[in-house]
Amino acid sequence: MTTAGIRVASLNHSYGSDAHKVHALSDIDLAIDQGQFVALLGSSGCGKTTLLDILSGLTPMQNGQVTLAGSHPEAGRQDVARMFSRDALLPWRSAAGNIDFALATREPDPDIRRARIDELLVSVGLEQFRDAYPSQLSQGMRQRVALARTFSLRSPFVLLDEPFGALDALTKITLQNLLIELWSGASGTTVVLVTHDIGEAVALADRVIVMSARPGRIAADITVGLERPRDVRQLQESRDYHELVSQLWHELDS
Ligand SMILES: Nc1ncnc2c1ncn2[C@@H]1O[C@H](COP(=O)(O)OP(=O)(O)OP(=O)(O)O)[C@@H](O)[C@H]1O
Ligand SMILES: [Mg+2]
Repeated sequence: MTTAGIRVASLNHSYGSDAHKVHALSDIDLAIDQGQFVALLGSSGCGKTTLLDILSGLTPMQNGQVTLAGSHPEAGRQDVARMFSRDALLPWRSAAGNIDFALATREPDPDIRRARIDELLVSVGLEQFRDAYPSQLSQGMRQRVALARTFSLRSPFVLLDEPFGALDALTKITLQNLLIELWSGASGTTVVLVTHDIGEAVALADRVIVMSARPGRIAADITVGLERPRDVRQLQESRDYHELVSQLWHELDS
């Protein structure tokens, strides 16, 4: 039987050995439904990236059970897309070329790829920068390209590790709204967004999973019932948003 979504049971993870052992994750149990937008919130060093690395197969699992759509994590899985805080764009490829780099692994027809790249560049507002190289783009623009590339494959699982961590407040809001749009347009896509930004977690996610300080445990699991469609700037004026932010501050403090 295949299980939709992400399932994690009794997951522990340590780095190093003996005297230098770092216990990064402790007894993580987690069930994320397909199509859910989940934020993983926790202080620096609590194991968020470790968990994402395990989900994407970059870090081999030591024990416990982890499945995505019923299958074990594996690096290079076609149905899992990953994005990092600093763009990992190839400097020698243009914006379009960077998106194509991902797309070409799955779509052999160059015309179909070109159409898809054009559509994505429009959706991230970079149609005029199709042929620009990363060095000719601002950090925010590079993250737009990285977002477009991440969603280009229509992967059912999208794992984002602090994708807006390096951006100024205004650019961040624009890109957060863009992420909401891309996810809304990709129905059934499960997003796990790692962040230490409480406001970002509340504004974007259906559910916020709070991790304790190391070893990372699940300290709280909060449903965010804010209506969709959402606009991050407008939400920041709303009382429900602020109540959730304050609740999460308490969870992180406790
Ligand atoms: N490759 C590694 N080798 C040894 N220790 C590691 C390795 N990667 C992470 N750690 C340790 O595991 C713990 C969790 O690290 P991780 O990167 O998962 O935290 P994080 O929650 O993503 O932190 P941040 O918010 O700062 O990115 C830290 O104590 C870190 O030092
Ligand atoms: Mg991290």
